[in-house]
Amino acid sequence: MKVAVFGAAGRTGHRVVVQALAAGHQVRGLVRRAEQVAALNSLGAEAFVGDLLGEWQGVLEGVDAAVWAAGGHLDPAQYAQIDYDALIRVADVLAEQGPRRLIVVSSMGMDRLDQMPPFMIAALEAKLASDTHVQRGPLDWTIVRPGGLNDEAGTGRVQVAPQLPGGQISREDVAAVVVACLETPRTVHRTFELLAGEQPIAEALAEL
Ligand SMILES: NC(=O)c1ccc[n+]([C@@H]2O[C@H](COP(=O)([O-])OP(=O)(O)OC[C@H]3O[C@@H](n4cnc5c(N)ncnc54)[C@H](OP(=O)(O)O)[C@@H]3O)[C@@H](O)[C@H]2O)c1
Repeated sequence: MKVAVFGAAGRTGHRVVVQALAAGHQVRGLVRRAEQVAALNSLGAEAFVGDLLGEWQGVLEGVDAAVWAAGGHLDPAQYAQIDYDALIRVADVLAEQGPRRLIVVSSMGMDRLDQMPPFMIAALEAKLASDTHVQRGPLDWTIVRPGGLNDEAGTGRVQVAPQLPGGQISREDVAAVVVACLETPRTVHRTFELLAGEQPIAEALAEL
């Protein structure tokens, strides 16, 4: 598959690039700065320099699938611009190309905002609105809602379910789940929460 990765230089996006390449996919990553191009090329991926607040559309040219791993900690005013405006535009531009796969790294907690820390509310509200847009659209989407992300080594073992209690997961395991979703048709039109756990990823996705 030819896969575009949004946030390709980010901590989750980088791991998606590495694991998608290892799984045999062709990868084109969106990066903002010229110095990130060489790093992406050295992995074996193509780089497209752009900005989600400006021009980025070319990164989707000719792809079969896209992964959204952009955003992260932003200036609060930018959550609506990135996690909502930019993401729904990505979904719409991708849909114009025909039936395509879109995997969104969203977030746990948006359906229980009253229990979430105040600094997360703007991001979660934007993500909930864009998830809804994607869910109502024509793409073959999967929405992955992880708990708190950390940079520990991946274990390849997770828990997935429509709703889980709060918890953490490594970015490496999130990336592994994203790449597994690309290759698992039964994850199309599924929204699920994701935490570190005990079940091998393929088995967990098979029981969704
Ligand atoms: N942190 C958590 O605990 C948590 C929990 C659940 C879900 N999430 C979600 O998981 C995803 C990945 O998180 P992360 O912590 O791995 O992210 P991260 O390391 O902060 O990476 C975010 C990436 O987004 C890119 N980006 C930001 N603004 C951009 C723009 N205007 N144009 C193009 N690219 C832009 C950044 O580009 P640069 O490299 O140029 O800065 C960076 O590569 C995010 O959507 C986040 O909201 C996070």
